[in-house]
Amino acid sequence: MKNHDLVEKNIGLMLVLVVVAISFGGLVEIVPQLYLDETTKPVAGLKPLPALELEGRDIYIREGCSVCHTQMVRPLRAEVERYGHYSVAGESVYEHPFLWGSKRTGPDLARVGQRYSDNWHKAHLYNPRNVVPKSNMPAFPWLFDNKLDGKYTGAKMKALRAVGVPYTDEDIAGAEEAVKGVAEIDALVAYLQQLGVLLTHKR
Ligand code: HEC
Repeated sequence: MKNHDLVEKNIGLMLVLVVVAISFGGLVEIVPQLYLDETTKPVAGLKPLPALELEGRDIYIREGCSVCHTQMVRPLRAEVERYGHYSVAGESVYEHPFLWGSKRTGPDLARVGQRYSDNWHKAHLYNPRNVVPKSNMPAFPWLFDNKLDGKYTGAKMKALRAVGVPYTDEDIAGAEEAVKGVAEIDALVAYLQQLGVLLTHKR
């Protein structure tokens, strides 16, 4: 009883003890994750994104798609039935930054790859109302006019390699050539079409 009075009447000591308690709790949750194979090893078949898809991912980030779309299927029955296999950590080990998101104005996109045709995506991104009459998703028509120049594609791969994504020297050397002159829409659609295809689809 006495000791507890001491803590309650001494805000400095209380702060220190709160920090110790939270740090300990945090470490116990976080540290094991860093050593579990399940969370640090890529799932079978995972490869770094090729140049075009990497640029598509950057367009996805630039246009704020992740503001309305998550890329994480939670392990809940309703989600798995709607979207397919729940997301696993091994799918995200090459993602810097990851795009799990937290706000679903639109559907989750973690497993949208191969669900629609390229032409569906193009019609949808040009104006979502073309294919989903009640959609309130914004239109992105400029993606059809903007072309990639590939100036920084190799440098981006180098930066990702520095944080552990296994790009090869050939990937980096050929990056500019692989994307130069391609319309942004084609890069974005290529990126969307590979999302989540390594684990089984429902649908
Ligand atoms: C303001 C919120 C918002 C933004 C920003 C947004 N979307 Fe959407 N998106 C939606 C909504 C709402 C839907 C559901 C209606 C529809 O299909 O159009 C949707 C649907 C989709 C679908 C169909 C998913 C499915 O399973 O049927 C795809 C693919 C998609 N969005 C891609 C994108 C991409 C790529 C971007 C960025 C270029 C983007 N969205 C930006 C709100 C948004």
